[in-house]
Amino acid sequence: MSQKPQYERPVIVRHQAGLMNKLSRTQTTRPMTHIEGVSIDELIQTYGSPLFVFSERTLINRYREIHDTYSRHLPRVRVAWSYKTNYLNAVCRVFHKEGAWAEVVSEFEYDKAVHLGVPPQRIHFNGPYKPEGALRKAFADGAIVHIDHFDEIALAEKVAESLGRKPGVAIRLNYGVEGTPPWSRFGFNIESGQAMDAVGRIIGGGKLDLIGLHSHLGTFIQNPEVYKNAVTKVAQFGNEIRDRFGVKLDFFDVGGGIASHNNLKGQYYPGAQTTPSIARYAEAVADGLKTLNVSPAELPTLVLENGRAMVDDAGFLISTVMANKRLPDGRRGVVVDAGVNVLFTSFWYNHEVVPAQPFRGIPEPTVFYGPLCMNIDIVRDSHLFPSVDVGERVVFKSVGAYNVTQWMQFITYRPAVVMISKDGKHGLIRRREDLNSIIDHEAIPEWI
Ligand SMILES: Cc1ncc(COP(=O)(O)O)c(C=O)c1O
Repeated sequence: MSQKPQYERPVIVRHQAGLMNKLSRTQTTRPMTHIEGVSIDELIQTYGSPLFVFSERTLINRYREIHDTYSRHLPRVRVAWSYKTNYLNAVCRVFHKEGAWAEVVSEFEYDKAVHLGVPPQRIHFNGPYKPEGALRKAFADGAIVHIDHFDEIALAEKVAESLGRKPGVAIRLNYGVEGTPPWSRFGFNIESGQAMDAVGRIIGGGKLDLIGLHSHLGTFIQNPEVYKNAVTKVAQFGNEIRDRFGVKLDFFDVGGGIASHNNLKGQYYPGAQTTPSIARYAEAVADGLKTLNVSPAELPTLVLENGRAMVDDAGFLISTVMANKRLPDGRRGVVVDAGVNVLFTSFWYNHEVVPAQPFRGIPEPTVFYGPLCMNIDIVRDSHLFPSVDVGERVVFKSVGAYNVTQWMQFITYRPAVVMISKDGKHGLIRRREDLNSIIDHEAIPEWI
């Protein structure tokens, strides 16, 4: 069958490719034909499009880099994998095999971690809402609960008393620190005296054993100094509660928040150039923690709950071009088969997107639309991109964090997810949804 050449009515488009910006940089695009040595064609033929792909090697490298770098500064370091960032069993298991504990923020996540085989004593249970049944389960199992507010202290005491136990708990703290907006809706505030009252209340109640302080500052924090100031502030609080109440901390949980190599919207330089090394974060945290009035050998275990820094760069989304169109302003619109419902982080990031095959022609300003019949379905705005034909593919990079937990099924099926092993094997880690995935949960009452 002879292929009919495609015709596109000519338009005048200002040529921007190759132009230097004021920093003498030009944008270069290289095609990505393979992920971890496996061809993208093979992946799509095997699992269909769109497709999330995770690199086991990157997951392991990121875990080790984070754990080992902090361990160079501090005697005891624990990584508790932040389930909300990506709770696919295979991803969690890779981290647990490396030694990670679990950090969960809901009963669902708690149950998922236990179901996966994580011993409950290796679970940190965070979040502003833990139903009584979940607290009961966590205390009975020996998990470590991080208390968020006074009502939760009261509930935790009631549950602990009814179980005849004095469980070890932590409190979550919030406070102001230069360089990041305060997340004051979580935990007890230091500056107002609320956090000190909470400690007094717990110690006075005698039903809970305060063994840890928790401080998750925020997210995508690009300045390590912020951690130094924050940890120093919490350490100061630790010194005060030791002096006043004799509290000895088993652990000090600094939360997550380290930036991945993604590009935040509005960020001028790409994340690959601006994200500080893990070494700089580790040094900052260690400097802060060493202001605790204890000997170096007595320093509490440092708990890390990093999410995006561990998994974002390990994830890719392959998507197929469905249509090319010309927008009235001259830009090219490319319709791909993955929308914002599966690439939720495209609301915050300008993801790096590259062609999955060699390309021709000059890059021109391009908008990537998803397949949703919604105006907001823009997965990447105004990007200089070479031409791609219908049926060709593109790869979105650094999509491993939050997408496969925050995705929505909206008008289509959520795609399959695969992992590529360190030695180049690939396997399904989540099946593509089908009609049954959705209608199995529906019912029609008999009167309809
Ligand atoms: C309590 C807690 N810990 C850890 C994380 C992971 O944060 P990040 O992905 O920024 O490292 C979050 C995310 O919001 C969180 O709320």
